[in-house]
Amino acid sequence: MSDKNEKREFPDWEKLYKAGPVEKMPWFNPELDEDLADALEALDMRGGRALDIGTGPGTQAFRLSEMGFEVTATDLSKTAIRKAKKAAKEKGLEIDFRADDILATRLSGSFDIIFDRGCFHVLPPEKRAVYREAVAGLLNEGGYFFLKCFSYRETKMQGGPYRFTRKALKEAFGPAFRVVSIKDTVYQGTLEAPPRALFSVFRRK
Ligand SMILES: C[S@@+](CC[C@H](N)C(=O)[O-])C[C@H]1O[C@@H](n2cnc3c(N)ncnc32)[C@H](O)[C@@H]1O
Repeated sequence: MSDKNEKREFPDWEKLYKAGPVEKMPWFNPELDEDLADALEALDMRGGRALDIGTGPGTQAFRLSEMGFEVTATDLSKTAIRKAKKAAKEKGLEIDFRADDILATRLSGSFDIIFDRGCFHVLPPEKRAVYREAVAGLLNEGGYFFLKCFSYRETKMQGGPYRFTRKALKEAFGPAFRVVSIKDTVYQGTLEAPPRALFSVFRRK
């Protein structure tokens, strides 16, 4: 069971980012995702080329840039990108923010790490293989892909992102990636009870 197989509905991302401040969005986390921070520390990685897919408010890109990574950050929403660019400029950070649909990406180049915190789990299930190939194509051989998505254990929230089991993630990414680890965690943000999540570390074959 990768999720309840019903089709899920998602907001029009552009309208959403136009409508209100990013700080109020449930996924807003000003800190570097704790699980990513732990994984980078365990791998002793403090620099290199990083891509943040579905960057939204851009906070993960800000923190990676401050750590020493050369960061590219993308989102489907032009408004999200415009807001993140402005915030980065105010912080004096140099980040390559671009509007881009990862399912029809115009990015090229090779990254040492790719992070996705909440984009994959809102994509249509039939596009998962397209997503996997796009990510694999943008990553250096041996590069790391870090993924945070909702877990099948998240049962309290009605609707919202697709839920995943370890097995479903292994099936989705196995063709192009070696699974390093998948751990139970939460999705930190503005909700009082953080949703249950899985944090995966994959390595490009
Ligand atoms: C749950 S939010 C997470 C935002 C951000 N990663 C964070 O942790 O704050 C998911 C993001 O994915 C973006 N998104 C959805 N579909 C996308 C696609 N096909 N390509 C790129 N970004 C997409 C949305 O606009 C939204 O900003």
